[in-house]
Amino acid sequence: MFTKEISIAIGADHGGYTLKQFLIYNLQEAGYTLKDYGTDSEKSVDYPDIAHPLAKDISTGKMKVGILICGTGNGISMTANKYKNVRAALCWRTEIAELARLHNDANIIALPGRFIDFEIALEMVKLFLNTSFEGGRHLKRIEKINI
Ligand code: RB5
Repeated sequence: MFTKEISIAIGADHGGYTLKQFLIYNLQEAGYTLKDYGTDSEKSVDYPDIAHPLAKDISTGKMKVGILICGTGNGISMTANKYKNVRAALCWRTEIAELARLHNDANIIALPGRFIDFEIALEMVKLFLNTSFEGGRHLKRIEKINI
């Protein structure tokens, strides 16, 4: 679980820009603090340029939790998952967002900005932030992820 005292890292390429702005507005309204890693418009950018700085900050512990968005969610999650201790989970429905925390202790939720309803995306993010890792048998599994 990530309380409202914990700042959320958020970033998107042009394919996720509009959803990013929607999430920033609504999460701030709900009392969360966010650090915006860009992009700043719908002008075309390369998703690794957004994902690398954010994932690096999660990997080093500077930031505890992040939201990454691109058109499909794939490019941005592939890039983030190159970093040690980063577990970016591509989510497109609420059950998967919840399980990403319960079973995978995911620290980044990756969203497909061009393929999901914005209200469902907000619901997924809130569920992701408010769900704790179950531990137990899942702990040894996530410990086997890093190479
Ligand atoms: C950009 O057109 C698109 O390729 C990108 O947002 C993402 O879907 C890549 O995985």
